[in-house]
Amino acid sequence: MTWVVTERCNDCRYTDCVSVCPVDCFYEITEPYRMVVIDPDTCVDCAVCETVCPAHAIYRDIELPEPYKQWLDLNRELSPNGQNITETKGPLPGALSLEQIQQREREQDLVVHEPKVDR
Ligand code: SF4
Ligand code: F3S
Repeated sequence: MTWVVTERCNDCRYTDCVSVCPVDCFYEITEPYRMVVIDPDTCVDCAVCETVCPAHAIYRDIELPEPYKQWLDLNRELSPNGQNITETKGPLPGALSLEQIQQREREQDLVVHEPKVDR
């Protein structure tokens, strides 16, 4: 079981998640996306990261919305090429709010539920 960072993080990258992870399994990537991803072999399924993400971008693998299912494989593929990141830094310029992300999804006709965690 692992948690998965999705498209919602791309071009936003708030990084609140990286400093709360007990096993430091976040990796920052810049190509082909500007975001962080999770090394699924290190994640211990604690769910803490999702509770702090302003973009609600992190999902449990078995609860990924249909439009974001491919991000399970993408996190595994992209994390070895990233830079390990453990300290929060500012979001990317122009980072979208959760409301703006949800609006973009509606405009793209994507059906995306919110992550199921206690906040
Ligand atoms: Fe780290 Fe826990 Fe999030 Fe996995 S679920 S990435 S271990 S904070
Ligand atoms: Fe991305 Fe959310 Fe972390 S936007 S960097 S998954 S806090």
